[in-house]
Amino acid sequence: VGDDDAAYLISLIRTIPDFPKKGILFRDFIPAMSDPRGLAIILDAMKRTLPVKPEDFDLVAGLEARGFLIGPQLASDLGKGFLPMRKAGKLPEPTYSQEYALEYGNARIEIEQGCLQPGQRVLIVDDLIATGGSAQAAARLVEQAGGQVAGFSFVMELNGLDGRKALGAYPVTCLMNMP
Ligand code: ADE
Repeated sequence: VGDDDAAYLISLIRTIPDFPKKGILFRDFIPAMSDPRGLAIILDAMKRTLPVKPEDFDLVAGLEARGFLIGPQLASDLGKGFLPMRKAGKLPEPTYSQEYALEYGNARIEIEQGCLQPGQRVLIVDDLIATGGSAQAAARLVEQAGGQVAGFSFVMELNGLDGRKALGAYPVTCLMNMP
């Protein structure tokens, strides 16, 4: 991302203290999504900073809900399919399922069986990496289904939460680091 674009994108991120719980500094990227230039910067920059080459993954997976806002467009632009990773209880059985702890609570994510073929390589996308709990669960979900994690792409990384460390050796890219 060029300096102008980076500064513009950062200016669109809204920061809300004590949401959704006391002590959480919530980073809201919806104002960046709803801005035409902001949206174009996000998608262009994600395509240009992929953690692996497009030929090295087969499918894009996104986490509910904010990963759904970026993933399908990115996937379509790259000629890939999109796999939604949904919160528990939304998908018809049979599913694969993984539980995780996030910055503010617990959650479970699921994918439908049969949508990810064994051996397929998956790029996992989301708006933000905090502790990395949901991203780790997403990786376990891909592996549970017999797939391989190609890498992760995020719009924002929250500094000081060691999210990247939680992802170990997987290739990771983020557009912005948030203090
Ligand atoms: N998800 C986890 N932590 C978050 C934060 N601080 N802001 C926005 N989304 C989050």
